[in-house]
Amino acid sequence: MNRNNDKLLFTPGPLTTSMTTKVAMMRDLGSRDFEFIEQVKFIRERLLQLAGVSVEAGYESIIMQGSGTFGIESVISSVIPDDGHLLVIINGVYGERISRMASIHRIHQSSLRFAENEVPDIAVVKEFLHENTDITHVAVIHCETTTGIINPIHEIGQLCAEAGKVYIVDAMSSFGAYPVDLQASGIHYLISSSNKCIEGVPGFSFVIAQREQLVSCEYNARTLSLDLFAQWKGLESNGQFRFTPPTHALLAFAAALAGLELEGGVAGRAKRYQENYQALAAGMKELGFREYLVPEHRGYIITCFHYPEDPSFDFVSFYEALNERGFVIYPGKLSEVNCFRIGNIGHINRQDIHNLVRAVGDVLAEKGILMDKQEA
Ligand SMILES: Cc1ncc(COP(=O)(O)O)c(C=O)c1O
Repeated sequence: MNRNNDKLLFTPGPLTTSMTTKVAMMRDLGSRDFEFIEQVKFIRERLLQLAGVSVEAGYESIIMQGSGTFGIESVISSVIPDDGHLLVIINGVYGERISRMASIHRIHQSSLRFAENEVPDIAVVKEFLHENTDITHVAVIHCETTTGIINPIHEIGQLCAEAGKVYIVDAMSSFGAYPVDLQASGIHYLISSSNKCIEGVPGFSFVIAQREQLVSCEYNARTLSLDLFAQWKGLESNGQFRFTPPTHALLAFAAALAGLELEGGVAGRAKRYQENYQALAAGMKELGFREYLVPEHRGYIITCFHYPEDPSFDFVSFYEALNERGFVIYPGKLSEVNCFRIGNIGHINRQDIHNLVRAVGDVLAEKGILMDKQEA
């Protein structure tokens, strides 16, 4: 792979990026400079293409400074009017985060909670929408990175379309590697960020928005800096950001987008990540690890593994031993089960996964951790 000698990141982002992406940042461009404005235009157009929509079809792409959370908060705080009612569908920490945002902005909200290892039950969502006709907006996570579970955004979108609800999807950790059909799924706002499956560096998030819906939000913002409508208007009026943009991160992102296209777009990237996941799943199973999710809910972005049963297993020392060998994994975030996570995304391939699995085996042996291979 085209990269330097940094440790490899098996995380949900920031990720290992290509040298081409890193080198693209080694320039100082002015935020009002023509060349920079051209880059921003290119990125905004390419994001729409990636989402399979266009300006002509009624969609806009808006770049928002800050990490993914800022992009989500810009949508939540800008699109729901004072008399709106948000339904948040939750099966992990990122769904909980949206609910917290709604509380902070004093937005009227309801939530439907499902277990972290279950996808939302469509019949329950349908019934809830049927009984609560004052719901105006529905928000859900696509890949709930807490576990890696893939939620049924298309089916939920169909319910929203039938019931006339505005539909918000946090596709932070999936966009660019899972195909999403915004029109067919009735998605009004889709949010992702620079340092996930497009393999850029951290610095901004972006929103793909249905224009007609966006235009209706002109007076809804609850903050100045995260005002989605004003950000869009600013970009449209002169191609510039309202406030200082992350110029270097945007240059890196333009290079990352070119890399994605070279790889064959979403289909090509999905193929590599699937191969990474398959190599990981097979290797870890052979070592005796058990995946947290049942097979039908597993995705190929990030994988959640139970801690070994052996009471001498200590995650921190396991993590450190892998880190010393050049592999950075990710702790778990589950409320009740002890798990750790391994990301399959970023500028890594199957060989990197094989090397990681070998290192995991070496660390287990070195620490004398006993694995129950029957159970896996
Ligand atoms: C599904 C999802 N939503 C939101 C976020 C928050 O993004 P950030 O940490 O960039 O603010 C993440 C981060 O991993 C995520 O996976």
